[in-house]
Amino acid sequence: MSKNQPTFPLLEAVEKMRESFIITTTELDEPGPSIIYANPAFEEMTGYSKAEVLGRSPRFLQGPKSDRAVLDELRRCLEQGEPFTGQTINYRKDGSPFVMSWYIEPIRAPDGTIRHYFAIQRDVSELRERTAFRAIIDQLSDSVVIFGKDGRVTYGNRAYSEWSGLSPQQFIGRPIWRLPGKPRHRLEIEWARRKLSAGKSWQREFATKRPASSSEATELLFLFSSISPVHSADGETTEFVTIARDVTERRQLESVAEAHNFHDNLGFVFSGIRHELGNPVNSLKSALRLITDSLETMSRPRLREFLGRMGNELERVEYLLRSLRTYNLFQEPRMESLNVRDFLRRFQDLVERDSKDKKVKLIVSSPNLKDQVYADPQGLSQVLLNLFSNAVEAVSGEDHPTIEVAARRDGKQVIISVSDNGRGLSPEQLDQLFKPFYTTRARGTGLGLAITRRLTALMGGTVELRNTQKGVQALVTLRASPKEAYP
Ligand SMILES: Cc1cc2nc3c(=O)[nH]c(=O)nc-3n(C[C@H](O)[C@H](O)[C@H](O)COP(=O)(O)O)c2cc1C
Repeated sequence: MSKNQPTFPLLEAVEKMRESFIITTTELDEPGPSIIYANPAFEEMTGYSKAEVLGRSPRFLQGPKSDRAVLDELRRCLEQGEPFTGQTINYRKDGSPFVMSWYIEPIRAPDGTIRHYFAIQRDVSELRERTAFRAIIDQLSDSVVIFGKDGRVTYGNRAYSEWSGLSPQQFIGRPIWRLPGKPRHRLEIEWARRKLSAGKSWQREFATKRPASSSEATELLFLFSSISPVHSADGETTEFVTIARDVTERRQLESVAEAHNFHDNLGFVFSGIRHELGNPVNSLKSALRLITDSLETMSRPRLREFLGRMGNELERVEYLLRSLRTYNLFQEPRMESLNVRDFLRRFQDLVERDSKDKKVKLIVSSPNLKDQVYADPQGLSQVLLNLFSNAVEAVSGEDHPTIEVAARRDGKQVIISVSDNGRGLSPEQLDQLFKPFYTTRARGTGLGLAITRRLTALMGGTVELRNTQKGVQALVTLRASPKEAYP
């Protein structure tokens, strides 16, 4: 260093460098090459102080896992006056191993003779770990995409490349919400963004547009995707990882199964309509024939009786038509947040008279004052009325006929139950009751429960029936608030 002592600003720059930097003498055989300068970054990386390393060969960094072939290559390069680049395991002062990546350059005198070597060194253990990890991620059949806090993609695995038909050069650096695989609906994207910026993860099955490159005919695909924030040691979000799986095929299989079911149901619907219309039409026809045949001889009271019967039959047809209309027309529920207690009180007013007339004891248990349910008030009324009228039917003729309507909050949901102490249902009945036109009553249309189920589904809920110790309990489960619309 004596003759070529670095000028002051150069030394200061080297002292401040983040990479570790050393200068050695040129003897390659032991005990050389000896270190004549090491910057603070070298001390930090290795745990050795300057005083401990000056005059020694960098060999003290080596240990059992250091790669002999790399060191031989180093020697070969330096002996031939060439620069060297390599990677091996080195050991810190405390004995812990790390992956050293470094390069060495000769420093020559003006006549070309080598006067010193310098090396720039980096601990790349983390990078290596990441690279190894990414090699594994590349083998996955699910798409994995990593993006930064600015929403720009920093990595996508091979599965994603294949699925999207884009090369890494085409997607790296682009905003994630503009790339293939984003939810089709803006609302979903908004929802995901909100969750992620709150530091939470987001998971959902959604429809997405098929990537333009794909040769398949269908436009829409379904993805099951989850996005999770990645936190640094101090809890800061550093980036986001998306894992997505194409579930289109599964969805298609499900809809085939559904269609099959629907077909089964359709049979019920047609035979139901035939039956429901056939009966009144037949009795209307025979009444008409009878009246026509004996128009001259029939007494007035008898004629009135027949006309009355015909009116009843027509009413039945009308009722059926009305039910069918509800079944079809209730497409778009008007959802709002309802106070459960107030709602049940109004419902009680609605059915109280009917229960008194039928000598049924009605118990309505009001829940917590503040509980809310997210529903269409008319839809929910209709659902409860249907269940209530079934319950009334079930308890008729029983001792102490009782119907209990109760509501309770269950996590993010509200469960409203209608229980009776009637005859109960057979397993076959429990299985079939929700099908249109299936009925256990003599004069029922069999549409009530089918409509009930459809209405609850439209309101984002479910309805089930189960036998209790005495009678049947219908359970209507609905969301407590609109927020629960997305998981
Ligand atoms: C400038 C310079 C820097 C070096 N830095 C390292 C190092 O960081 N880690 C290491 O294992 N060996 C390093 N070496 C290599 C060893 O000092 C030694 O030259 C190497 O092990 C080859 O010698 P050998 O064949 O006698 O083992 C460095 C050598 C030079 C000249």
